[in-house]
Amino acid sequence: MRTIVIASNNQKKLAEFKHIFDSNEYRILSLKDVGFVGDIEENADTFEGNSLIKALAVSEFTGYTAIADDSGLEVDALGGAPGVYSARYAGEGASSKQLIEKLLYEMSEVEDDNRTARFVSVMCAVFPNGERLFARGECEGMILRREAGDNDFGYDPVFFYKPYGKSFAEMTAEEKNSISHRARATFALLEQLKDVPEGYFESPVSKA
Ligand code: IMP
Repeated sequence: MRTIVIASNNQKKLAEFKHIFDSNEYRILSLKDVGFVGDIEENADTFEGNSLIKALAVSEFTGYTAIADDSGLEVDALGGAPGVYSARYAGEGASSKQLIEKLLYEMSEVEDDNRTARFVSVMCAVFPNGERLFARGECEGMILRREAGDNDFGYDPVFFYKPYGKSFAEMTAEEKNSISHRARATFALLEQLKDVPEGYFESPVSKA
């Protein structure tokens, strides 16, 4: 059995991983399961850098393989902003409403055709021997002029996904999980993990 610690306190992300990773092959542990309570500073300026910081810290602490993700919204008309700063775009601890208000204000002069954007998710796996793998998932869309749908997760209400003709906030969980940046990155990582030798998951120093 391959043990993996998910370096996130987000219960939704944990449940998603458990759903996607076959429970006969993978034992998925949370930070709570391994007693990790530290705060990890995400101070890199790329998604890859931030996911690596988190996965490395948790793998070193536990001795197990750790997976972390970092995600955000890239808006073309804003030169890729808010990008890695998506969560803090309207200040530390900003609500979804505040993030959207700031984004729509910054984009108030941007014409319809130029409102292209993508959600990006990068996943990093760090093995007990220090080796690492990265997988990236992206989902293209357009930024609406006003909110559609009423979930309060980040930028979901203003991110319009053309193939389904609705915003991320108007989708069911199943719909979003079938095309989202995070789902795509998770599946890409899972594909890569299939080629990783069993020995990579053995933990000589596991404390958990
Ligand atoms: P983190 O990867 O958990 O640090 O998330 C970065 C930020 O990007 C989140 O706080 C959201 O504001 C935004 N974000 C990432 N993925 C999504 C999504 O699927 N929907 C809406 N906002 C998202």
